[in-house]
Amino acid sequence: MTAARVRTRPELRRQRRQRAHGCWNHLLIAPLWPMHGVNLGTLLRTCDAVGACMAVPRRPWIPQALAQGNTLRRRQCVHWIDGPVERWLDRQRAGGSAIVGVELTDESIRLADLPTARKRTIIVLGHESSGIPPEGLELLDITVEIPMVGTGHSLNVAVAGSLVLYKLSGLC
Ligand SMILES: C[S@@+](CC[C@H](N)C(=O)[O-])C[C@H]1O[C@@H](n2cnc3c(N)ncnc32)[C@H](O)[C@@H]1O
Repeated sequence: MTAARVRTRPELRRQRRQRAHGCWNHLLIAPLWPMHGVNLGTLLRTCDAVGACMAVPRRPWIPQALAQGNTLRRRQCVHWIDGPVERWLDRQRAGGSAIVGVELTDESIRLADLPTARKRTIIVLGHESSGIPPEGLELLDITVEIPMVGTGHSLNVAVAGSLVLYKLSGLC
């Protein structure tokens, strides 16, 4: 096999969209109990890559964290949640969206068995140290887990969310 050639930045730019996508409102990543801004920025980047939006509670520190963490420097689609996140989640479910929790639970299916999203889907991520709280777990239709064989308890939340975004988008 001949050595692979890395595509240049101008080549990649030509293959990408010229502007950020608008609100596709099909896949929403929902870090509902965020702690570290850097993870939100990483997730926004994945949202741009797969054509997803982010839903996040309106907290004073979050807009700046998103602006700093989003190294694409383009405006991305963010749905701001006012009031309790559980009430918002309940409304999304009542409106017909599928609610997928990303969490290590006894009932979780494996990432490989998660099908591409066929309807509007909210992907719920847990708190960086305590996971999805009990009142959030009650509102999920399904939970998915990313299998691990190492010594760590869990993955970084932005890595876990990005893997699930890719799987649900059908891009991999
Ligand atoms: C760092 S983990 C939470 C801490 C975890 N409860 C522990 O004891 O290590 C933060 C979030 O990342 C996601 N997560 C991390 N690793 C995961 C995995 N292997 N499968 C599914 N979700 C995962 C979940 O949403 C979880 O709530």
